[in-house]
Amino acid sequence: MDYLYYPDLKNRVVQMLPFTTLLSIDKESPQPIFLQIANNVVNIIREGQIKPGTMLPGTRELAKLLNIHRKTVIAAYDELYAQSWIEVIPRKGAMIAQNLPDLKPQRWNEPRSGSYGEFLAAPFYQMETHTPIVSVPGLRSPEFIIDGGYPDSRLAPLDLLNREYRSRSKLASARKWLPGSLGGGSPLLREALVAYLLESRGLNIEAQHTMTTHGAQMSIYIAASLLLQAGDAVIVGDPSYFMANMVFEKLGARLVKVPVDAWGMDMDAVEQACKKQQINVLYVIPHHHHPTTVTLSPQRRMRLLELSRKYNFAIIEDDYDYEFHYNSAPYLPLASSQHEGRVIYIGSFSKSIASSIRIGFMVAPADFIRQAIQMRMIIDLRADHVLEDALAALIQNGDIGRYLKKANKAYFDRLNNLCTLLDQELKGIVSFERPSGGMAIWANFNEAYPLAKVADAAISKGLYISSGIHYHGNPQHNNSIRMGFATMNIAEMNAAIEILCKVLKAKI
Ligand SMILES: Cc1ncc(COP(=O)(O)O)c(C=O)c1O
Repeated sequence: MDYLYYPDLKNRVVQMLPFTTLLSIDKESPQPIFLQIANNVVNIIREGQIKPGTMLPGTRELAKLLNIHRKTVIAAYDELYAQSWIEVIPRKGAMIAQNLPDLKPQRWNEPRSGSYGEFLAAPFYQMETHTPIVSVPGLRSPEFIIDGGYPDSRLAPLDLLNREYRSRSKLASARKWLPGSLGGGSPLLREALVAYLLESRGLNIEAQHTMTTHGAQMSIYIAASLLLQAGDAVIVGDPSYFMANMVFEKLGARLVKVPVDAWGMDMDAVEQACKKQQINVLYVIPHHHHPTTVTLSPQRRMRLLELSRKYNFAIIEDDYDYEFHYNSAPYLPLASSQHEGRVIYIGSFSKSIASSIRIGFMVAPADFIRQAIQMRMIIDLRADHVLEDALAALIQNGDIGRYLKKANKAYFDRLNNLCTLLDQELKGIVSFERPSGGMAIWANFNEAYPLAKVADAAISKGLYISSGIHYHGNPQHNNSIRMGFATMNIAEMNAAIEILCKVLKAKI
């Protein structure tokens, strides 16, 4: 680093402020000392204790006063100079800048306090939402959250991902990208996906058949936007993933609901629907269906492909939960079989690594992906390609594969634990089918225990549990919720279920 030259003039008159107090240093603080000094100088300028045009002590002098190395003072002055708080006067030293770098916005009318209230004065298109927004500012998170099925980020290799991110962010700033070249995601991750999806799911694809998104949800939105217009028909399960239904409804599509049983979507009902009307899209969750956790059987997979050919509709295959299987191996996706370009395949690392790592992906024929990239760029110009590059490195060096094996083992134990707790502690109150994989149990509560009341009573005891509002509308599932078993370890889940038992066994 080139140090600026701050001479010490023996005979210079410097307004002597109590610098030892004003620039007090905390040697225990994780913030470097040079930055503490620079920040303290900025503070005393802002407070008006030191005026523009005032000379600062020479570096030797200040180092002596503060009992630190002179190089530290030089670094602090360099920092202040770089931010334009000080000027360097040749042969004189460092002076507080005449024009301080704090730009005050100019007034153009009388500002009013509280200019935002509850309502937008202009009309806007309100969404009919079934998603309760629980993150009210100021609301403290409860101690335990029984979620709908998320991974435990404490098990995920986030430290390795951060390390890769750090080293790659330096490289990224040196690299130049053509405009638009990152709209489809990080080229490295798209390449890594080709090998990863071949090995894990038998998908025979090239990078041009892939794109990344901020999670599977964004892929659903983009795919649906290209496939559906107002009035078009989309087949969904009854029940189905409510956030996908909201996307289809937002686009003006009609939901054609077909029953879901222990083997997945009922294909006879699909065929009947196709005979009655033109179907544009079928949305299917082949593994651990949301919410019921059932897996689509191989026979129904074959039938679904035949029907898509016969009635010429596209399939959105949302395989959000492919990685976690406990009793049996997963089935290869519809996308890996002969589908003649009708399947849009969607997956997510947000579901396998951590919900805060927003990386999902879409696989489709190249012309669809090109359009999908354009669509994505309307709402989000480019991916977080540094994070995606870091993930690509972890996929390639096997870290992700190793982590998934360990997480599978931990989640299997957590599933067993929750099943035992529900069987032993909540017999007669909660009924469920043990899932073969995934991160949640579909739990049906006895009608005598209305979930809305259970949720209310539980939150006051430090436990969040869903009221099941998402699945209302289907009378069979009016009192059912997904109980995620992955985010909490066994001790935490035991404590959460203890609270739930108390709530249920008290008179609701
Ligand atoms: C069936 C299904 N698809 C997609 C998603 C969205 O996943 P992501 O977090 O990757 O956006 C979810 C989230 O819960 C889901 O349950």
